[in-house]
Amino acid sequence: MSETAKLELEGKIYELPVVCGSENEKAIDISKLRDMTGYVTLDTGYKNTGATKSDITFLDGELGILRYRGYSIEQLAEKASFIEVAYLLIYGELPTQKEFEEFQYNIKTHTLIHEDMKRFFEAFPSKAHPMGVLSSTISSLATFYPESLNPNRSPAAKNLTILRLLAKLPTLSAWSYKNSIRHKFMYPKNCYNYCENFLHMMFAMPTEDYHVDPIVASALNKLLILHADHEQNCSTSTVRMVGSSQANLYSSVSAGISALWGPLHGGANQEVIEMLEQIHSDGGNVDKWILKAKDKEDPFRLMGFGHRVYKNFDPRANIIKKTCDEVLEKLGINDPLLEIAKKLEKVALEDEYFKSRNLYPNVDFYSGIIYKAIGIPTEMFTVMFALGRLPGWIAQWKEMIENKEPIGRPRQIYIGQVGREYVEINDR
Ligand code: SDX
Repeated sequence: MSETAKLELEGKIYELPVVCGSENEKAIDISKLRDMTGYVTLDTGYKNTGATKSDITFLDGELGILRYRGYSIEQLAEKASFIEVAYLLIYGELPTQKEFEEFQYNIKTHTLIHEDMKRFFEAFPSKAHPMGVLSSTISSLATFYPESLNPNRSPAAKNLTILRLLAKLPTLSAWSYKNSIRHKFMYPKNCYNYCENFLHMMFAMPTEDYHVDPIVASALNKLLILHADHEQNCSTSTVRMVGSSQANLYSSVSAGISALWGPLHGGANQEVIEMLEQIHSDGGNVDKWILKAKDKEDPFRLMGFGHRVYKNFDPRANIIKKTCDEVLEKLGINDPLLEIAKKLEKVALEDEYFKSRNLYPNVDFYSGIIYKAIGIPTEMFTVMFALGRLPGWIAQWKEMIENKEPIGRPRQIYIGQVGREYVEINDR
C-alpha cells in the first residue's frame, strides 16, 4: 500500500511517502523533506521521531506490549535463560541446544580481563561510582583488543568483539564493586552459568566458597531478561549514534553506559530506593510525598514513575512487582520499603495528577527492592541495568552496522545572533 502524506507549504502541495511496519506502526518518511521544501522538522527529545527501522524489539505503549524478536517478555522471563535471550536479540533467533552450548562456551572462555586492567581499579577513588568505573573500563577494552577498532573488519572479528564484551562486563562490574569495598577480586569460575558467575564474583570471599542460592540466581536471570532491550531508548540511541560514526563497539557501549547513568533513565532504580528510604525515615507519610511530586515548585519527582512511551502500564513493572513478592517471601524478607512502594503506587494511581499524565510505575519502580533483597548494594543498581541491557545495545549496534546506516547528524533551527562585525576589545 503506497500511502502518501500531503503537506501544504507556501501554497505548494508536497507528497511524502508513508512507511508502515509489521505491527502497523506508521511514519511519514521525511528523508527528502529538506531537498523538496527547504524545511526541516523540529522535535526536541525526539518524542515523535523514528530514528530507524528495526526488527529487534517491538513495544506498544498503549497496550503495554513488549516483545524481543516477536517473543513476549512474559514468556521469555518465565521460560528462558538470559544467555538464550541475549542470543535471540543479537542473532535474531532462539538458539538450538548446540548453538546455545557453543555460545555459552564461547562466553565462558572470555570472562577474564587482561591483568594490566587491574591497575585501573587501583587508580579510582574507593568511593568511585561503579558506573563511572564501568564506562571507563569498557571503553579501555578497545585499547587491549585493537582488532575491534574497525567494526567492518570481518564477521569473525565482530563476533569475537561481541563475545568478549558479553563475557567481560560481569567481571568488570563485580570487580568495580569489590574495588569499592577494597575486597580481593574474585575470578570467574566456568562451572557457573552467567548469572551464577556474576553472583560468585560479587559475593564470594577468598576464605570460603560461595553458595549460589537458586532463588537469587533465578530472580537475577528474570531481571536481566526484562532489561535486555527496549528499542530506541536514550542509552540505545546513544550506542547507535556513536556507532554510526564507525566507532568500535566498546566505545559505543561505553557511551550507552554513560547515558544510562542519568537519573531520568537507568539511574532511576538507585533513585527509587533512595526515595523510598527517605520516605521511610521521614515516617512513611506517603501522602506528603505525593503532594511534593505534584508540586511544580518542588524539584521532587516520584522516581520510578512515568515513561516516555508506556501510557497505561509498563509490562516489565507488573512482572517485577510479582517477582518482588515471590522473592521476598522465599527469602523470608519483610522489607518496609516494599510496603511504602505499594502504598505510593496505590495512592498515585488514584490521583488525578498522575492519571491525567498517564504516569505509572516503570521498570525501575520495584526492581531495586529485589536487588536489595538479593544483596546487591544500591550503588550497583544501575550497573545491573547495564548488565541486562548489554545484549540489546549489542543487537542494535550490530543491526545499525550491518544495515550500513549513515552517520547520525540531526539538523537544528538556529535562534541566536544574526551576522555581526568583530569589535576590538578596547572598543567594547
Ligand atoms: C527508563 O525510554 C525507555 O524505554 C527507558 C527505559 C528503558 O527500558 O530503556 O524504560 C528505562 O529510563 C525508565 C524511566 C526511568 N525514569 C524515572 O523513573 C524518572 C522519573 N520519571 C520521569 O522523569 C519521566 O516520567 C520520564 C523521564 C521517564 C519521561 O519523561 P517525559 O516523557 O519527557 O515526560 P515529561 O518529563 O515531559 O513529563 C510529562 C508531565 C510533566 O508534567 P506537566 O509539565 O505536564 O505538568 O508529567 C510530569 C512532568 O512534570 N511527570 C512527573 C513524573 N514524570 C513525569 N511528575 C512527577 N513524578 C514523575 N515521576
